[in-house]
Amino acid sequence: MNAENPIGVFDSGVGGISVLAELERELPHEHFIYYGDTLHAPYGTKTPEEVMACVRQVMKELTAREVKAVVIACNTATSVAAATLRQEMTLPIIGMEPALKPASLVRHEGAILVLATPVTLSLPKFQSLMERYGEGAVPLPCPGLMELVEQKDFHEAKHYLQQALSAYDLAAVDAIVLGCTHYVFLRPLLRELLPDHVQVMDGNSGTAKQLRRVLEKGDLLRRDGEGSIHLLSSSPKEEDHTCMLELLTLARQQSVVSGL
Ligand code: DGL
Repeated sequence: MNAENPIGVFDSGVGGISVLAELERELPHEHFIYYGDTLHAPYGTKTPEEVMACVRQVMKELTAREVKAVVIACNTATSVAAATLRQEMTLPIIGMEPALKPASLVRHEGAILVLATPVTLSLPKFQSLMERYGEGAVPLPCPGLMELVEQKDFHEAKHYLQQALSAYDLAAVDAIVLGCTHYVFLRPLLRELLPDHVQVMDGNSGTAKQLRRVLEKGDLLRRDGEGSIHLLSSSPKEEDHTCMLELLTLARQQSVVSGL
């Protein structure tokens, strides 16, 4: 394996594209292969065993393309599979977790709402995160929300969020953690729903920086030349591929804005 090999990035669908845009910004000389497992989405309401089986299949696809590292651009798949994959493989595996640690640093006295899939919030990885940084944190499972992002139904997504947030006194909320990579696409419309003082946090730039560190350490960083992105999907439907391309354009714009 050497620095010229591509980096594999995957998610249950289009959510990880929000991560991909951040990876591209941080590491512009790299070649990325993105795999959206759209055919098997959502992961967040499956059993951990079912998610593990999906992840194994995706890993087969990526390793067949000789990737030098894999980014699990999905909180759900990371919670289920990252530890096992790291035990089984020598390939660097970079995972994601809800950005509770950075949120705990900006918290005053208020609550931190953690929006994520039911699977992410139910597994030990999140419980241990809660033990360390969970003061004031309130887990808020959002089944069905990723599907609205997959359909690019932002109108319905806004309605969903409005309903979900109506149970909370937003004046007493300090931060919202987007603990699912799909939800990062909802950042602009969340901003419309939230008072200005509420910070919205995601794990994307932390993940990009972690990937850089891992590549540098393993002497696997591609330091010059043009980078590239190759999009793959488990779905044979042309419209799913088009959706990935559209969301990549959107994610690149959002990444530029949030990186300013
Ligand atoms: N994007 C994923 C995450 O970060 C999972 C969404 C799903 O498949 O339910 O958790």
